[in-house]
Amino acid sequence: MLVATATRRFLASPLVDLLVGPHGIDRYLELIRPDLALREARAEVTGVRHQTDRSVTLTLRPNQAWGGFSAGQFAAVGVEIGGVRRTRTYSPASSEHGRRGAVELTVTSRPDGVVSNHLRSRIAPGSILHLGPARGEFVLPAARPQKLVLISGGSGVTPVLSMLRTLCDEEHPGEVTFVHYSRTRADALYRAEVEALATAHPNLRCAFVATREGGGRLDADVLAALAGDLDEAHAAVCGPPALIDGVRAIWDGVGGADRVLAETFAPPALTPTGATASGTLRFLRSDHEAAIGAGTLLEQAEAAGLSPEFGCRMGICHTCTCRKSTGTVRNVLSGEISAEEDEDVQLCISVPAGDVALEL
Ligand SMILES: Cc1cc2nc3c(=O)[nH]c(=O)nc-3n(C[C@H](O)[C@H](O)[C@H](O)COP(=O)(O)OP(=O)(O)OC[C@H]3O[C@@H](n4cnc5c(N)ncnc54)[C@H](O)[C@@H]3O)c2cc1C
Ligand code: FES
Repeated sequence: MLVATATRRFLASPLVDLLVGPHGIDRYLELIRPDLALREARAEVTGVRHQTDRSVTLTLRPNQAWGGFSAGQFAAVGVEIGGVRRTRTYSPASSEHGRRGAVELTVTSRPDGVVSNHLRSRIAPGSILHLGPARGEFVLPAARPQKLVLISGGSGVTPVLSMLRTLCDEEHPGEVTFVHYSRTRADALYRAEVEALATAHPNLRCAFVATREGGGRLDADVLAALAGDLDEAHAAVCGPPALIDGVRAIWDGVGGADRVLAETFAPPALTPTGATASGTLRFLRSDHEAAIGAGTLLEQAEAAGLSPEFGCRMGICHTCTCRKSTGTVRNVLSGEISAEEDEDVQLCISVPAGDVALEL
């Protein structure tokens, strides 16, 4: 073990990088085994199981370059498909205290989804995935709440389950209620496991609701029947925007708007405000140009027939970051205008505010 650590330290040293030339040591190590890379985070898939028809649950063993995660966060996951690396964001479902750093992802396939379908049907033990650093503010408060309601819809179960598993690993003594909404009983992810946790932890209550099989929608009475008084309760919810709005309304009703943590996987419809600029969008590497139209730079590049890399399409993963050589863009989230030359912009949340030239 000591020898292995010393060898890794030696290989990662600036001297070795200097000796092996411009490509760096990782380019050589990955020829031996891709997950040996020292600086780039990779993970080997060690387990594959299918909980439902539309999903896959992957167990990953990240290499030492990955910095771990806090329950609720997400990471950019890259996979080679037809020789091109595609990146999407996924939230680990495992406890942040996972055994030997193992990480579990559960991916639900979308109709026509490029990455989700590839992960569901083409990934086998031994496959290697690229990992970005964990990010996100959807995390448990450092002082764990004494009363917590965890609510999820569909594939949004992953970060919320990670919180639940983390609290169980910590033997958290507070009251925890876990409510999961799926369309049908057959679609419900992790049901047996959560019910087993509830049997083992008397402070945990759980409910699984199948909305298309007679299960009711979320309301204050249903929640109060499960979780009791919500006056002091914190909520963490991940799911479609309608579920999040419903939870916020309930917590607003008890004066607890600031006790709701929320995350959605669905990219928001970014409707840029203000007049659409006129001018030309130039894609320098592709030697292509188009008149400025509606939508973000990402959407306009796609409309022009280009396929820029993207992950979340909502400004959080930075996968779409691209060098803008010249021109003025507006960030649709912050409203900030930027006209600097040679700056990096996030294509998915930027709109042109005049002629723009991108290194794309
Ligand atoms: C912070 C975050 C965490 C995430 N964690 C998970 C997770 O743990 N498990 C999981 O299964 N997914 C998760 N996702 C969603 C995931 O990143 C991808 O969006 C999803 O797997 C679809 O990618 P794709 O390449 O298959 O689809 P694409 O080829 O990109 O798109 C195919 C079609 O699906 C639609 N679509 C794409 N993404 C979504 C979406 N999120 N909601 C609704 N429609 C969509 C597109 O509009 C398009 O029509 C997360 C997303 C975010 C932003
Ligand atoms: S695609 Fe994630 S920041 Fe743009």
